[in-house]
Amino acid sequence: MKDRHGRVHRSLRISIVDKCDLRCTYCMPEDQHFLRREELMTRDEVMAIARLFVERYGVDKIRVTGGEPLVRPDAVDIVRDLLRLPVKLGLTTNALTLDKHLDALVGAGLKSINVSLDTFDAERFKRIARRDGFERVWANIRLALERGLRVKVNMVVMRGVNDDEILRFVELTRDHPVHVRFIEFMPFAGNKWGRERVYTYAEMLGHIGSVHSFEKLADDPHSTAKAYRVCDWPGTFAVISTVTEPFCGTCDRLRLTAEGKMRNCLFAREEMDLLSALRRGEDIAPLIEANVLAKHAMLGGLPPFKPEKQEEVLHDLSARPMVSIGG
Ligand code: 5AD
Ligand code: SF4
Repeated sequence: MKDRHGRVHRSLRISIVDKCDLRCTYCMPEDQHFLRREELMTRDEVMAIARLFVERYGVDKIRVTGGEPLVRPDAVDIVRDLLRLPVKLGLTTNALTLDKHLDALVGAGLKSINVSLDTFDAERFKRIARRDGFERVWANIRLALERGLRVKVNMVVMRGVNDDEILRFVELTRDHPVHVRFIEFMPFAGNKWGRERVYTYAEMLGHIGSVHSFEKLADDPHSTAKAYRVCDWPGTFAVISTVTEPFCGTCDRLRLTAEGKMRNCLFAREEMDLLSALRRGEDIAPLIEANVLAKHAMLGGLPPFKPEKQEEVLHDLSARPMVSIGG
C-alpha cells in the first residue's frame, strides 16, 4: 500500500495491550492510565484487522507489541493466530515473564523476539524500569537463546544514565549470538526527553571504535537499524538513529494501538479509529487507505530533532506516551 510519497508499506506493528509490568522512565509516565478491557481489541478483532492488512494490502511482516504483550492472558493465542498468516512474525517483550510462555511460543512456531534491556546493573535497572527484574530478564534472554530463538536486545541509550554500558552490550555479541540494538533516546509524551540526553549514533560508533574494530554489515532495505559486527563474533550490534539520522525515506511501517487505532508513524499526531468502525459493522478499508495516504514525509510532520528545534518538538508531540503506541 503506497502513501502519497510513493513509499510502499508492508510492515504492521500491533499493540495488544497498553499495560506493562515494568514502568521504564523513557516509555511510561508515572501517572499513566490504562485502557479498560472492553476497550482493547479482542483476539478475534486483532485477527480480523490483521488479516485485512495481509490479504488486501500486502503486509508481510507483523510485530506484536504492547505495553508488554505477555501481560495479556491470551497473548500466546494471539501469536498462534497470527502465525497462521503468511507473514514474518516478531514479538517485542520485556522478557520479565517469558519463561512461563516460552514453550508455548516456540511450540506455536515463533522464531524471533526483541527484548528490551538497558543495563546489566540490577540497581540501575530498578531506577530505569521503576521495578525489580534484571535477574529474571537476563535469565530469560539466555533461556530464549538456548531454545534457538533469534534474539534482538534493545538498549535505549540515555546520556548520563547508561551510556557507560555500551561496551558491555557490544561484548554480549562476543559471548552470545544476540543482535544488540542501541536506540537513540526518542521524544514521547511524558518521558522527559531533551536533545542533550540523546547519546548519538556518531558518539556510539566513536566510543565502540576506540576499543573494537568492527565491520559494517548489509542492512535490509527497510531496516531502521544500521548493523555492524566485531571481528568474527557470533552476534551483531546495530544502531537505531531515529534522532540524529532518521530513516523515514525507506519507512514501510504502520501501527495499530491496543484500542484499534491506526497510526501511520511512530510520531503521528492523527489516528484512524478502525476498531469503532469495525464494531459498528462498517468497512474499515477506506479508513486504512486514507491513513496511509496521509503519512508525512518525515517524523510524523514534527520538526527535525535538532537542538535548536527542541522546544517545537516537545510542544508538537503526540499526546500518547510510547507505552500506549507500541514499540
Ligand atoms: N526512545 C527509544 N526507544 C524507546 N522504546 C520505548 N521508549 C523509547 C524511547 N523513548 C523502545 C524500547 C523497547 C521498545 C518497546 O520501544 O527499547 O524495546
Ligand atoms: Fe514496559 Fe517496555 Fe515500556 Fe519498559 S519499555 S515500560 S518494559 S513497555
